[in-house]
Amino acid sequence: MILPLAELHIHLEGSLEPETIFALASKNGIDLPYESVEELRAHYEFNNLQSFLDLFYANMAVLRTSEDFKEITTAYLNRAHASGVRHVELFFDPQAHIERGLSLSEVISGIRAGLEEAEQRWGVTHKLIACFWRHAPAASAMEILKMIVTENHAIDGIGLDSSELGFPPELFEEVFSYAREHGLHVVAHAGEEGPADYIRQALDVLKVERVDHGIRCMDDPELVARLVKEQMPLTVCPLSNVRLRAVETLADHPLPQMLEAGLKVSLHSDDPAYFGGYLDANISAVAEQFSLTVSDLATLARNSFEGSFLDEAARKSRL
Ligand code: ADE
Ligand code: ZN
Repeated sequence: MILPLAELHIHLEGSLEPETIFALASKNGIDLPYESVEELRAHYEFNNLQSFLDLFYANMAVLRTSEDFKEITTAYLNRAHASGVRHVELFFDPQAHIERGLSLSEVISGIRAGLEEAEQRWGVTHKLIACFWRHAPAASAMEILKMIVTENHAIDGIGLDSSELGFPPELFEEVFSYAREHGLHVVAHAGEEGPADYIRQALDVLKVERVDHGIRCMDDPELVARLVKEQMPLTVCPLSNVRLRAVETLADHPLPQMLEAGLKVSLHSDDPAYFGGYLDANISAVAEQFSLTVSDLATLARNSFEGSFLDEAARKSRL
């Protein structure tokens, strides 16, 4: 049975498969420090979030043209559509690409071309979310955000990602306030590796509409009660949490307790090319591990649409 799903936590650059990294490196004349796809893949063993990010940022250097962005967006959407995705809210890291000399327009127009083609071909709807790096100064995020707003780039919202520990959400108060004032949606990674208090800051200081990961809320019963009361969407990525050692094993993942508590959880793939699979693989893994019922799976699927930025009518037509 394939349930219709909304994918709300997917980093475009995290869908860059090793084979595509080699193909783009060859096309763009870039020397990779690996002889083969197998040698690259052998590095996909991570101790924590940072050990993954180091490789993730190095690999995305093969993206050099607008066409490259279109190609990887199309490849991701092909794969996602096959696993039941009917709506996607796609993250990308503008700072990474601007740093390499691409313009915001080149990046966004390539991604948008891929998104629009998939909507025409399969009816997969989309939103595009620019994620700012929390390891970089807030001033860098603000500079790009102002460019997005003043040059009217086709962006639906902003997010906050990258290294979490030591970079609390409150550092980005002004950035998020500016984004909200200009009608952009706001989400943030919080409580992936970082403490429950970072989730509280994301709610109180950044005033996010959705929390990415959020699993560490389970350390703080008062926060759980609040998240349940507010029915705050939490975009949980089980295979990512295992591969980045946010949990020891899948059996230790707090998903069953989160569902039991009444949290508004949905399942997502984060960086599927790095963590062992796309949305369908994440769902199969937890369904098997925790013997989820059809009713649990239907709740997770419904939560994915209810947590999305689709309006009410569009949400109903997608389900
Ligand atoms: N960027 C890509 N994947 C990420 C993750 N899991 N956490 C933080 N930043 C990311
Ligand atoms: Zn993420």
